[in-house]
Amino acid sequence: MYQQIQATAAWLRERMTSHPTTAIILGTGLGRLSEEIAVTQSFDYKDIPAFPVSTVEGHSGRLIVGRLGERDVLAMQGRFHYYEGYTMQQVTFPVRVMYELGVRTLFVSNASGGTNPGFAIGDMMIITDHINFFPEHPLHGPNIPTGPRFPDMHEAYDRDLIRLADTIAAERGIKVQHGVYLGTQGPTFETPAEYRMFYRLGADAVGMSTVPEVIVARHCGIRVFGVSIITDLGVEGKIVEVSHEEVQQAADAVQPLMAEIMREMLTRA
Ligand code: HPA
Repeated sequence: MYQQIQATAAWLRERMTSHPTTAIILGTGLGRLSEEIAVTQSFDYKDIPAFPVSTVEGHSGRLIVGRLGERDVLAMQGRFHYYEGYTMQQVTFPVRVMYELGVRTLFVSNASGGTNPGFAIGDMMIITDHINFFPEHPLHGPNIPTGPRFPDMHEAYDRDLIRLADTIAAERGIKVQHGVYLGTQGPTFETPAEYRMFYRLGADAVGMSTVPEVIVARHCGIRVFGVSIITDLGVEGKIVEVSHEEVQQAADAVQPLMAEIMREMLTRA
């Protein structure tokens, strides 16, 4: 496994004309942020040795090298979800490759269902912490020597980056929420009882991604900033039928604001 990670990183390193220390993972409906990136190179996942290939609608599946907010960035347009049938090792493989390539800061974005009654559709939630509700752990198995066997998780989401995002949002009058993201396997959206359970467990939002990648990033010592776009509500009295298309539409609408914050963070961080 580790050898494959290193081999894939070596393949990319040979071809990359810049070597970003910041990476971005663009979630469902949030791939448009990549249009803001001045792209210098792009690698289709299918051409990268040992890279999984994304299948879900709305994820185009390429690794972009370019510039955003005065900084070289590596961006994943489309991520791998556990519900697609990938193992946790496959889901998190790109993050391990990023680390080998020298990435030390990771921005993650996703779409999620809000369980916090104070949230509204279209809110942007800065992730302050997470709950790992996946049935399999991404660090299950022999320890990969980029981090300890028992990694600390007391500050999975970097406080300085959260503070910076808050400052930028306040300056520009952009409303942001803070909250705990719970990652669960999907592919079903939650029943009303499940939304209620997750809220009682401490989740403000629930989605089907991010947590595995963040765990692996932290295992490598990569600092993480995460944003979740609330695309539907799992709040009693406000629950309606959810479709993937609606999730994408709601995420679409907030993309420019998310992009603005991220671009400015990259310039200042
Ligand atoms: N639940 C799980 N994942 C999601 C949701 C949701 O309500 N909305 C967007 N992704």
